[in-house]
Amino acid sequence: MARIAVYPGSFDPPTLGHMDIVRRASGLFDELIVAVGINRSKSPFLTVEERVEALGCCTSDLPNVRVDSFSGLLIDYAKTVGACAVIRGLRAIADFEYEFQMAMVNRELCDRIESVFLMTNWEHGYVSSGIVKEIAMFGGEYRSMVPDCIVPIIERAVRSHRADR
Ligand code: PNS
Repeated sequence: MARIAVYPGSFDPPTLGHMDIVRRASGLFDELIVAVGINRSKSPFLTVEERVEALGCCTSDLPNVRVDSFSGLLIDYAKTVGACAVIRGLRAIADFEYEFQMAMVNRELCDRIESVFLMTNWEHGYVSSGIVKEIAMFGGEYRSMVPDCIVPIIERAVRSHRADR
């Protein structure tokens, strides 16, 4: 039976740190689903459609990776797609508490789906979506932190957020 893993996140926007986790996780499982969690209460930088588009273009060279979105509980989505694992990246100790709680809750909800943590590469340890968003909105240089193909999507979002103000 194919071993399927889900790598969930907000990916708002995807960063090189996310891509590093995608690449490494795709080598560990038969299929990896990168899943954008839809959280209507957060005010997003990129729309869900833009995030799916962005992730699609930067994973197009990985044949066992597909991109999707989900609303509701992650564990329900993971069950629906037949996943045996949920992947999360860890950058620093600061990530641990939240991730630990999420893994415990998800195990309580379904103990046959494992949470698997991959440590980020050292060079991406400081990169986060929030940092990229902030630098981009203030017109700073963020391009070394994201995959090249999503720069136009970020630029478009910056223009539309500035026009909204
Ligand atoms: O990239 P993020 O913002 O850390 O991703 C968070 C995400 C989308 C993985 C998380 O918020 C999530 O799983 N949301 C779905 C709702 C859910 O299942 N909550 C219970 C787990 S504690």
